[in-house]
Amino acid sequence: MNPNCTTAMYWVFVVSFLACCFFFVDTTTYAFTIYQPTPKDVEISEELNERIDDLLIGQEEKAWEYHDKLLRMYNTRIARDGETWRMYILSNLIDHINSHYLSDIEKLDFISDDSVTKFVSRNVPYNDPWYVPKDLVRLYDSSTVLIAHGTSSAEWPFHLIRRDIYDATILLSQAYAKRFNERLKINSAFRSFEMQRDNYSEQCRLNKICAYPGFSEHQWGLTIDIWGMHGEKYLWMKKSAHKFWFHQSYQHGYEHDHYHKEPWHRRYVDESFATELHETWMTFTQWYEERFASKQ
Ligand code: DAL
Ligand code: ZN
Repeated sequence: MNPNCTTAMYWVFVVSFLACCFFFVDTTTYAFTIYQPTPKDVEISEELNERIDDLLIGQEEKAWEYHDKLLRMYNTRIARDGETWRMYILSNLIDHINSHYLSDIEKLDFISDDSVTKFVSRNVPYNDPWYVPKDLVRLYDSSTVLIAHGTSSAEWPFHLIRRDIYDATILLSQAYAKRFNERLKINSAFRSFEMQRDNYSEQCRLNKICAYPGFSEHQWGLTIDIWGMHGEKYLWMKKSAHKFWFHQSYQHGYEHDHYHKEPWHRRYVDESFATELHETWMTFTQWYEERFASKQ
């Protein structure tokens, strides 16, 4: 063979070989840098960000409907996928709602499960359906408090309440005992998701006085049920409870509060809000829905 031809073939081979190597290295690098598998939580976060943007931005009047839908989606997903979804969706949701919709009422944090102005209703659940407050303390019989058992576990000689309302409950009971010369009889306070589930019955649902587990103000640890709330005792409580920052959540009937009237049920809010609700004769549900237009 002509030596020039051999040399040419040699160079064609070398150049082709180098081109192949270059192509392989380049595409492999490309594949690893661009198509590197994305960790699951990053994929979810981008997808979720877009979804929340689509749902919320520019649709203010619908925002709370979407907010509730997202919460329901989040509640379903955490049961399946665990902690990553739960933390991710929760923090995104709260950031979005806070930054876009809460400026005029920022003093009230009714989204965070720990907040003393947390809002839950028949269709507005806890962010964490199994939420348990961290600072529960025991409320025992005392000179002004009588522990009775309606809906809580009958074996316990105490009810659990959050530390935040311990003093307020005692002050309320002292005022009540002074006025009526008897102890304030409390028959339910904190109820966990499981306790609410056990407490939930068909009859209770038909009577429209039971929240689904994950939707009850009792799970929050800042709510008490008081025995014997009728006649002058009920009237006194209606006039006085707000002074101790308690509010009667269900007082205007099913149409307005989504539960029938419950003279015995008192939830804690903050001082100025308790006064505002008392003076405007509104329930928290009415107040919330008037602002956010999303009828529950
Ligand atoms: N009775 C109220 C609605 C509750 O179950 O939380
Ligand atoms: Zn109650």
